This record gives sequence, structure tokens and C-alpha cells, in this order.
Amino acid sequence: DIKACLFDLDGVIVDTAVYHYRAWKRLANELGFDFTEEENEKLKGVSRVRSLELILEWAGITKTEEERAELAARKNSWYVDMISSMQPEEVLPGAREFLEEVRAAGMKTALGSASKNSGLILERTGLLSLFDAIVDGNSVTASKPDPQVFLKGAEALNTAPHQCVVFEDAVAGIEAAKAGGMKVVGVGSPEILHDADLVVKGLYELSTDLLYHL
Ligand code: G6P
Ligand code: MG
Repeated sequence: DIKACLFDLDGVIVDTAVYHYRAWKRLANELGFDFTEEENEKLKGVSRVRSLELILEWAGITKTEEERAELAARKNSWYVDMISSMQPEEVLPGAREFLEEVRAAGMKTALGSASKNSGLILERTGLLSLFDAIVDGNSVTASKPDPQVFLKGAEALNTAPHQCVVFEDAVAGIEAAKAGGMKVVGVGSPEILHDADLVVKGLYELSTDLLYHL
């Protein structure tokens, strides 16, 4: 039986994946290079620090740790500027409704995100009260594909991993859920998210009865 739902944030509940992409692209462009949309897929679900390392690696550029800290902070300030003016209307279609349906069905909900900005986003979009637990980039030491973020979520909800379903748009997040022994619903394209138990275009396609067939 499924007892809890663990949600990734960026790209599942809100469309901040677009803002992350814009901010990283701006940083790359300022440094005189670029990266592809395909490469961008590899940044989804990956921590800020690790994302920057990947981007620099693709460009064949080396920076000191101090420089990297400054670059990551610069990207984050642009990103925070963009999310500071987010509105409840920017919640992805069906996300709020699905969270409400899950809770009405008696299941628990947790956030499982790599982001250190999740508090601001949930506040701005009015979703904070729909989560029983929040596990994000401020409370984990290992990032996806490591299952830590979801294992902590399951633990916070007093639920065994096999009784949890994870909702993820990132390949790294699907790997993390699988490594944690959870069911996983991919949100996005089936070609990219082929390891998920089920793939949907958005949470609007889901209803709680589908979860019992995973
Ligand atoms: C999510 C996004 C990633 C982002 C990470 C850290 O997992 O999918 O693209 O790098 O969070 O976000 P932050 O807001 O802490 O920079
Ligand atoms: Mg995501």
C-alpha cells in the first residue's frame, strides 16, 4: 500500500526549471561559452555547486574554489530575483489539486528537493501548508542520484520506502528514488525518463487510484 508521496519541486510542482536554465545560461554566456538543452537535462535535480562544476567541465574551464563560490552566488542572485516575484498562478497545472487529493485520501506528503530556495518558492506560491515535511538542499549532505533526500522524507513521515511514491522530472531524481527502494512517477518525456514506473506530462494527468497500480 502507498502511504506517502514525495515530491520534487523544480519542474514537478513549479516551472522553475526554466529560471534555473536562464540563470545558468546567462552565467555561461558571460564567461564566453554556452551549453545545450540536452546538457541542461543533466543539471536537473543536481545541486547548485555540482551544476556549476558540470558546466565548467563541459566548457573545459578550470576555476578555483573561491571563484566557483562567487560564480554560484552570482547565478543564485539572478535566480532569486526571478523567483521572488513568483505567484500562485505559476504552480504547474494540477499540482495543487493533486497535493490536495493525496492528502484527502489520507496519504502524507513531503518535499524532496535539492534546492536551497524551496522555502521561498513554497511561500510565494502558497503551497507550504500542503506538505507534512520539507527536505531540501539545506538538510541533505548528498545530492541526487543519492537517495538521501527521499529516505529522509520517508523517515520524517514515518513511512517505509516501499510505501512511498516519488514524483520527479529529473533523471538523477528517478535514479535516487529507485536507489531508495521507492516507486517513482516521472513527470516529463518517456524517452528521457524511461526508468520511471510511470511517466506523465504533468500532475494534472494523475489521480490517487493510479498510484495503487504502480
Ligand atoms: C533542483 C533543480 C536544480 C538546482 C537544484 C539546486 O534540484 O532541479 O536545477 O540546481 O535544485 O537549487 P538551488 O535553488 O539551491 O540553487
Ligand atoms: Mg526537478
